[in-house]
Amino acid sequence: MFTSRACIVLRQRKVFFLLVAFIFVLLFVFGSFSNPEDYEKEYPLQLENEQLVICYESNTDYRKSLYATNLPDITDEPSTTQRNNHQPQALQQPVNGTEPVIYFVTPTYPRREQIAEIIRLGQTLMHVPRLHWIVADDTTSCSDVLNRHIRKFGIPYTQLASPMPEMYRARKNAPRGVANRRAALNWIRRNQKKTGVLYFGDDDNTFDLKLFSEIRYTKKVSMFPVGLIGDYGISSPIVRNGRVEGFFDSWPAKRKWPVDMAGFAVSLEYLALSPNATMPFKAGYEEDEFLKSIGLKLEDIEPKARNCTEILVWHTQTKSSKSPTVRISMDRQKLDKLNLGALLRRLESMGVNHISESE
Ligand code: UGA
Ligand code: MN
Repeated sequence: MFTSRACIVLRQRKVFFLLVAFIFVLLFVFGSFSNPEDYEKEYPLQLENEQLVICYESNTDYRKSLYATNLPDITDEPSTTQRNNHQPQALQQPVNGTEPVIYFVTPTYPRREQIAEIIRLGQTLMHVPRLHWIVADDTTSCSDVLNRHIRKFGIPYTQLASPMPEMYRARKNAPRGVANRRAALNWIRRNQKKTGVLYFGDDDNTFDLKLFSEIRYTKKVSMFPVGLIGDYGISSPIVRNGRVEGFFDSWPAKRKWPVDMAGFAVSLEYLALSPNATMPFKAGYEEDEFLKSIGLKLEDIEPKARNCTEILVWHTQTKSSKSPTVRISMDRQKLDKLNLGALLRRLESMGVNHISESE
């Protein structure tokens, strides 16, 4: 009796294991023979109804010419032999208007820190001549508040409305900034921009002014270290004898090009050779797939920033917090007699807080 029951249990276990093994085999067969177009369906390169919404644009440079093309090539390493007595050299050389234009693409999205980030970045870009700033906002409608801030810098710019498709926004690991960068690529193509250089500069990163003179004359693709990335605190190409041989990045994750979005620039001549180049909505693989889509080869990469020994861009991240609702029990008219009326309304228009009379 006992042995026959044990036999049944054993047999049931055997069947169970066989079943599990069978399911694994099925999954494996399915996985390896599945249509490569499935990837295309999941991460389509051409989106239906993808359209280019240009909100505002200016091609005029209203900045005063405080700046010029190249910064003096001073390294930030302290001198060990003598006191640092660098004369403050004239930072800039005159601009003659023939230098390649840098198309600086900034994805941004409405949240309470947005305007503060844009001011910080805009004031960096004010120092960079021959730059066109493409600000691609992750919204369905054009933000007038954002525009009022962008246009006051006097930088030639284009403001786009480029919302993330809803199906991606619902994901836990949403591909941030992709719809924005795709829209910018679209703008570059539609406007037949075939000279100059493309750079993806997120709204929360920190950019050394020297970066711009480094990338301006990119022939194909230039690469350089990005500080404050991942577990190593840096993501950088590995360079020997002036050539890129590999990558130092704490998240290689089977990527052919384990680099950060801020760690490369592409010349528009080179980009134009790949008319279908794009970025998929695949979080973590945007850089890799984009660089694959332009057919990049290791020997095409030009290391910058003193052969990748200097850090000219930092992956800073702003701590984000929810907008509070502030209850003001004072009558609006009375509030308007104080500075507080105008001040609070301004903050509300930027999404920094909400004013309520009851909550
Ligand atoms: C890192 C990389 O630096 C990004 O280039 C990359 O797109 C992102 O990971 C990713 O793989 O998703 P990280 O600092 O983690 O960026 O992300 P955020 O700074 O939050 O977003 C990247 C850019 O997308 C920013 O310019 C941000 O303003 C924009 N963004 C973010 C949107 O447009 N929509 C969003 O919902 C969130
Ligand atoms: Mn960021």
